Amino acid sequence: MSYQNILSEYSNGITIITVNRPEKLNALNKSTINELHNALTKAKQDKDVKVIILTGSGNKAFVAGADISEFSDYDVKRGAELAQVGQKILFDYIENLGTPVIAAVNGFALGGGLELAMACHFRIASNNAKMGLPEVSLGVIPGYGGTQRLPQLVGKGRAMEMVMTAGMIDANQALNYGLVNHVVEQDELANFCIGIAQKIMRNSSVAISQAISAINANFKDGVNGYEKEIEAFGNCFGTEDFKEGTTAFLEKRKANFPGK
Ligand code: COA
Repeated sequence: MSYQNILSEYSNGITIITVNRPEKLNALNKSTINELHNALTKAKQDKDVKVIILTGSGNKAFVAGADISEFSDYDVKRGAELAQVGQKILFDYIENLGTPVIAAVNGFALGGGLELAMACHFRIASNNAKMGLPEVSLGVIPGYGGTQRLPQLVGKGRAMEMVMTAGMIDANQALNYGLVNHVVEQDELANFCIGIAQKIMRNSSVAISQAISAINANFKDGVNGYEKEIEAFGNCFGTEDFKEGTTAFLEKRKANFPGK
Protein backbone atom coordinates (compact mmCIF):
# COMPACT_ATOMS: atom_id res chain seq x y z
CA MET A 1 0.00 0.00 0.00
CA SER A 2 1.37 3.44 -0.82
CA TYR A 3 0.79 6.47 1.38
CA GLN A 4 1.11 10.23 0.86
CA ASN A 5 1.43 11.36 4.46
CA ILE A 6 2.96 8.48 6.38
CA LEU A 7 5.68 5.86 6.05
CA SER A 8 5.22 2.29 7.22
CA GLU A 9 8.27 0.05 7.41
CA TYR A 10 8.42 -3.53 8.66
CA SER A 11 11.54 -5.24 9.96
CA ASN A 12 12.05 -8.23 12.29
CA GLY A 13 8.63 -8.25 13.93
CA ILE A 14 8.37 -4.45 14.29
CA THR A 15 6.42 -2.02 12.12
CA ILE A 16 7.51 1.60 12.42
CA ILE A 17 4.81 4.02 11.29
CA THR A 18 6.05 7.57 10.77
CA VAL A 19 3.79 10.58 10.26
CA ASN A 20 5.57 12.22 7.37
CA ARG A 21 4.52 15.85 6.90
CA PRO A 22 7.60 17.52 8.38
CA GLU A 23 6.91 20.83 6.60
CA LYS A 24 3.66 21.03 8.63
CA LEU A 25 5.28 19.59 11.77
CA ASN A 26 3.40 16.36 11.01
CA ALA A 27 -0.01 17.94 11.73
CA LEU A 28 -2.85 15.45 11.43
CA ASN A 29 -5.10 16.25 8.51
CA LYS A 30 -7.98 13.91 7.64
CA SER A 31 -6.04 12.10 5.00
CA THR A 32 -3.19 11.39 7.46
CA ILE A 33 -5.71 10.06 9.98
CA ASN A 34 -7.17 7.73 7.33
CA GLU A 35 -3.74 6.54 6.26
CA LEU A 36 -2.77 5.86 9.87
CA HIS A 37 -5.96 3.84 10.28
CA ASN A 38 -5.13 1.80 7.17
CA ALA A 39 -1.50 1.21 8.17
CA LEU A 40 -2.53 0.17 11.69
CA THR A 41 -5.16 -2.20 10.30
CA LYS A 42 -2.62 -3.77 7.97
CA ALA A 43 -0.12 -4.18 10.83
CA LYS A 44 -2.79 -5.62 13.12
CA GLN A 45 -3.78 -8.22 10.53
CA ASP A 46 -0.20 -9.30 9.89
CA LYS A 47 0.69 -11.99 12.43
CA ASP A 48 4.39 -11.28 11.89
CA VAL A 49 3.98 -7.79 13.33
CA LYS A 50 4.49 -8.10 17.08
CA VAL A 51 4.99 -4.42 17.98
CA ILE A 52 4.16 -1.11 16.31
CA ILE A 53 6.21 2.04 16.93
CA LEU A 54 4.56 5.34 16.03
CA THR A 55 6.69 8.44 15.50
CA GLY A 56 7.01 11.66 13.50
CA SER A 57 9.45 12.50 10.74
CA GLY A 58 12.21 15.06 11.18
CA ASN A 59 13.81 16.06 14.45
CA LYS A 60 11.39 18.78 15.48
CA ALA A 61 7.94 17.28 15.90
CA PHE A 62 6.16 14.06 16.75
CA VAL A 63 2.84 15.63 15.71
CA ALA A 64 2.07 19.34 16.28
CA GLY A 65 -1.66 18.74 16.49
CA ALA A 66 -4.70 18.37 14.33
CA ASP A 67 -4.35 20.36 11.13
CA ILE A 68 -5.83 23.70 12.13
CA SER A 69 -6.23 24.81 8.51
CA GLU A 70 -8.77 22.03 7.93
CA PHE A 71 -11.31 22.84 10.63
CA SER A 72 -11.12 26.61 11.12
CA ASP A 73 -14.47 27.14 9.30
CA TYR A 74 -16.36 24.21 10.84
CA ASP A 75 -19.71 24.62 12.61
CA VAL A 76 -21.02 22.78 15.70
CA LYS A 77 -22.13 19.70 13.76
CA ARG A 78 -18.96 19.31 11.72
CA GLY A 79 -16.83 19.95 14.81
CA ALA A 80 -18.54 17.10 16.69
CA GLU A 81 -18.22 14.82 13.65
CA LEU A 82 -14.51 15.59 13.36
CA ALA A 83 -13.92 14.45 16.94
CA GLN A 84 -16.23 11.44 16.66
CA VAL A 85 -14.74 10.04 13.48
CA GLY A 86 -11.16 10.70 14.62
CA GLN A 87 -11.72 9.02 17.98
CA LYS A 88 -13.29 6.00 16.31
CA ILE A 89 -10.86 5.37 13.48
CA LEU A 90 -7.61 6.41 15.12
CA PHE A 91 -7.45 7.22 18.82
CA ASP A 92 -9.77 4.57 20.30
CA TYR A 93 -8.64 2.26 17.55
CA ILE A 94 -5.01 2.44 18.72
CA GLU A 95 -5.89 2.12 22.39
CA ASN A 96 -7.88 -1.06 21.70
CA LEU A 97 -5.48 -2.59 19.20
CA GLY A 98 -4.34 -6.07 20.26
CA THR A 99 -0.82 -5.34 19.01
CA PRO A 100 1.29 -3.16 21.34
CA VAL A 101 1.75 0.41 20.07
CA ILE A 102 4.64 2.48 21.46
CA ALA A 103 4.76 6.25 20.83
CA ALA A 104 8.29 7.48 20.13
CA VAL A 105 7.76 11.16 20.91
CA ASN A 106 10.58 12.85 19.02
CA GLY A 107 9.66 16.54 19.43
CA PHE A 108 6.49 18.61 19.74
CA ALA A 109 3.46 16.52 20.73
CA LEU A 110 0.74 19.12 20.93
CA GLY A 111 -3.04 18.90 20.84
CA GLY A 112 -3.99 15.96 18.63
CA GLY A 113 -0.31 14.97 18.67
CA LEU A 114 -0.25 14.49 22.42
CA GLU A 115 -3.66 12.82 22.16
CA LEU A 116 -2.17 10.44 19.60
CA ALA A 117 0.76 9.66 21.90
CA MET A 118 -1.64 9.15 24.82
CA ALA A 119 -3.77 6.72 22.79
CA CYS A 120 -0.66 4.54 22.35
CA HIS A 121 -0.06 1.88 24.99
CA PHE A 122 2.95 3.78 26.37
CA ARG A 123 5.31 6.59 25.44
CA ILE A 124 9.07 7.14 25.20
CA ALA A 125 10.28 10.71 24.64
CA SER A 126 13.45 12.28 23.29
CA ASN A 127 14.93 14.96 25.51
CA ASN A 128 13.86 17.76 23.15
CA ALA A 129 10.17 16.72 23.28
CA LYS A 130 7.57 19.23 24.36
CA MET A 131 4.03 18.21 25.21
CA GLY A 132 0.81 20.09 25.75
CA LEU A 133 -2.87 20.45 24.95
CA PRO A 134 -3.07 24.06 23.67
CA GLU A 135 -6.62 23.82 22.29
CA VAL A 136 -8.19 26.43 24.61
CA SER A 137 -5.75 28.96 23.13
CA LEU A 138 -7.62 28.36 19.85
CA GLY A 139 -11.06 28.59 21.44
CA VAL A 140 -11.68 24.85 21.39
CA ILE A 141 -10.95 21.89 23.69
CA PRO A 142 -9.11 18.61 23.10
CA GLY A 143 -11.47 16.43 21.03
CA TYR A 144 -9.48 13.29 20.40
CA GLY A 145 -9.76 11.88 23.91
CA GLY A 146 -7.36 14.33 25.59
CA THR A 147 -9.74 15.40 28.36
CA GLN A 148 -10.11 11.74 29.33
CA ARG A 149 -6.66 10.23 28.79
CA LEU A 150 -4.58 13.09 30.22
CA PRO A 151 -6.17 12.87 33.71
CA GLN A 152 -5.86 9.06 33.55
CA LEU A 153 -2.13 9.42 32.99
CA VAL A 154 -1.12 12.46 35.04
CA GLY A 155 -4.00 12.99 37.50
CA LYS A 156 -6.90 15.41 37.41
CA GLY A 157 -5.20 18.49 38.88
CA ARG A 158 -2.21 18.37 36.54
CA ALA A 159 -4.51 17.74 33.56
CA MET A 160 -6.70 20.69 34.54
CA GLU A 161 -3.64 22.95 34.77
CA MET A 162 -2.17 21.75 31.46
CA VAL A 163 -5.47 22.19 29.62
CA MET A 164 -6.41 25.54 31.21
CA THR A 165 -2.99 27.16 30.73
CA ALA A 166 -2.55 25.64 27.24
CA GLY A 167 1.11 25.40 28.27
CA MET A 168 3.81 22.96 27.26
CA ILE A 169 5.81 20.69 29.53
CA ASP A 170 9.25 19.40 28.63
CA ALA A 171 10.30 15.77 28.48
CA ASN A 172 11.61 15.64 32.04
CA GLN A 173 8.44 17.09 33.46
CA ALA A 174 6.45 14.60 31.37
CA LEU A 175 8.58 11.85 32.91
CA ASN A 176 7.97 13.25 36.36
CA TYR A 177 4.21 13.34 35.64
CA GLY A 178 4.21 9.72 34.38
CA LEU A 179 3.11 10.86 30.93
CA VAL A 180 6.16 9.19 29.36
CA ASN A 181 7.99 6.14 30.65
CA HIS A 182 11.54 7.08 29.62
CA VAL A 183 13.46 10.07 28.25
CA VAL A 184 16.47 9.46 26.00
CA GLU A 185 18.73 11.46 23.69
CA GLN A 186 17.02 12.16 20.38
CA ASP A 187 19.47 10.10 18.31
CA GLU A 188 18.94 7.13 20.66
CA LEU A 189 15.14 7.23 20.60
CA ALA A 190 14.53 4.78 17.74
CA ASN A 191 16.96 2.17 19.05
CA PHE A 192 15.68 2.53 22.59
CA CYS A 193 12.11 1.89 21.41
CA ILE A 194 13.26 -1.06 19.29
CA GLY A 195 15.04 -2.48 22.38
CA ILE A 196 11.79 -2.36 24.37
CA ALA A 197 9.90 -3.84 21.41
CA GLN A 198 12.38 -6.73 21.32
CA LYS A 199 11.76 -7.45 25.01
CA ILE A 200 8.01 -7.47 24.34
CA MET A 201 8.47 -9.81 21.37
CA ARG A 202 10.04 -12.52 23.55
CA ASN A 203 6.65 -13.00 25.20
CA SER A 204 3.36 -14.46 24.06
CA SER A 205 1.63 -12.08 21.66
CA VAL A 206 -1.77 -13.61 22.38
CA ALA A 207 -1.29 -13.17 26.14
CA ILE A 208 -0.19 -9.57 25.53
CA SER A 209 -3.39 -8.90 23.55
CA GLN A 210 -5.46 -10.29 26.42
CA ALA A 211 -3.49 -8.13 28.89
CA ILE A 212 -4.12 -4.99 26.82
CA SER A 213 -7.87 -5.60 26.85
CA ALA A 214 -7.87 -6.35 30.60
CA ILE A 215 -5.85 -3.21 31.47
CA ASN A 216 -8.03 -1.05 29.19
CA ALA A 217 -11.13 -2.40 30.96
CA ASN A 218 -10.05 -0.44 34.04
CA PHE A 219 -10.85 2.76 32.15
CA LYS A 220 -14.10 1.84 30.44
CA ASP A 221 -17.48 2.94 31.72
CA GLY A 222 -19.77 0.14 32.84
CA VAL A 223 -17.10 -2.54 32.49
CA ASN A 224 -15.88 -4.48 35.51
CA GLY A 225 -12.12 -4.75 35.00
CA TYR A 226 -11.74 -7.64 37.42
CA GLU A 227 -14.36 -9.63 35.52
CA LYS A 228 -12.68 -8.75 32.25
CA GLU A 229 -9.38 -9.96 33.72
CA ILE A 230 -10.95 -13.27 34.77
CA GLU A 231 -12.31 -13.76 31.25
CA ALA A 232 -9.02 -12.78 29.58
CA PHE A 233 -7.03 -14.98 32.01
CA GLY A 234 -9.28 -17.93 31.16
CA ASN A 235 -8.91 -17.27 27.43
CA CYS A 236 -5.15 -17.70 27.72
CA PHE A 237 -5.61 -21.31 28.85
CA GLY A 238 -7.07 -22.17 25.45
CA THR A 239 -4.00 -20.98 23.51
CA GLU A 240 -1.01 -22.78 22.06
CA ASP A 241 1.18 -20.07 23.56
CA PHE A 242 0.06 -21.06 27.06
CA LYS A 243 0.92 -24.70 26.39
CA GLU A 244 4.30 -23.72 24.98
CA GLY A 245 5.07 -21.22 27.77
CA THR A 246 4.27 -23.57 30.62
CA THR A 247 5.86 -26.61 28.92
CA ALA A 248 9.06 -24.65 28.18
CA PHE A 249 9.27 -23.55 31.80
CA LEU A 250 8.85 -27.10 33.08
CA GLU A 251 11.40 -28.38 30.55
CA LYS A 252 13.80 -25.60 31.59
CA ARG A 253 14.10 -24.17 28.10
CA LYS A 254 13.27 -20.88 26.43
CA ALA A 255 9.71 -20.66 25.11
CA ASN A 256 9.21 -20.43 21.37
CA PHE A 257 5.72 -18.98 21.14
CA PRO A 258 3.69 -19.77 18.03
CA GLY A 259 1.56 -16.65 18.64
CA LYS A 260 -1.68 -18.64 18.62
N1 COA B 1 -1.95 22.61 12.02
C1 COA B 1 -1.61 23.09 10.81
N2 COA B 1 -0.38 23.52 10.52
C2 COA B 1 0.55 23.48 11.50
C3 COA B 1 0.26 23.01 12.78
C4 COA B 1 -1.06 22.57 13.03
N3 COA B 1 -1.42 22.07 14.21
N4 COA B 1 1.37 23.11 13.54
C5 COA B 1 2.33 23.62 12.75
N5 COA B 1 1.84 23.84 11.51
C6 COA B 1 2.53 24.41 10.34
C7 COA B 1 2.70 25.91 10.44
O1 COA B 1 1.52 26.55 10.03
C8 COA B 1 3.87 26.12 9.51
O2 COA B 1 3.40 26.04 8.18
P1 COA B 1 3.87 27.14 7.08
O3 COA B 1 5.37 27.00 7.02
O4 COA B 1 3.19 26.72 5.83
O5 COA B 1 3.45 28.47 7.62
C9 COA B 1 4.72 24.89 9.75
O6 COA B 1 3.86 23.91 10.30
C10 COA B 1 5.88 25.11 10.71
O7 COA B 1 5.34 25.62 11.91
P2 COA B 1 5.83 26.98 12.60
O8 COA B 1 4.72 27.51 13.45
O9 COA B 1 6.40 27.92 11.59
O10 COA B 1 7.02 26.42 13.51
P3 COA B 1 7.58 27.07 14.87
O11 COA B 1 8.83 26.34 15.16
O12 COA B 1 7.63 28.55 14.76
O13 COA B 1 6.47 26.72 15.99
C11 COA B 1 4.90 25.29 17.13
C12 COA B 1 6.23 25.39 16.36
C13 COA B 1 4.60 23.82 17.35
C14 COA B 1 5.03 25.99 18.49
C15 COA B 1 3.77 25.96 16.30
O14 COA B 1 3.81 25.42 14.99
C16 COA B 1 2.39 25.74 16.85
O15 COA B 1 2.02 26.37 17.83
N6 COA B 1 1.58 24.87 16.21
C17 COA B 1 0.20 24.66 16.56
C18 COA B 1 0.12 23.81 17.80
C19 COA B 1 -1.33 23.63 18.20
O16 COA B 1 -2.02 24.56 18.58
N7 COA B 1 -1.80 22.38 18.13
C20 COA B 1 -3.13 22.03 18.52
C21 COA B 1 -4.03 22.01 17.36
S1 COA B 1 -5.67 21.57 17.84
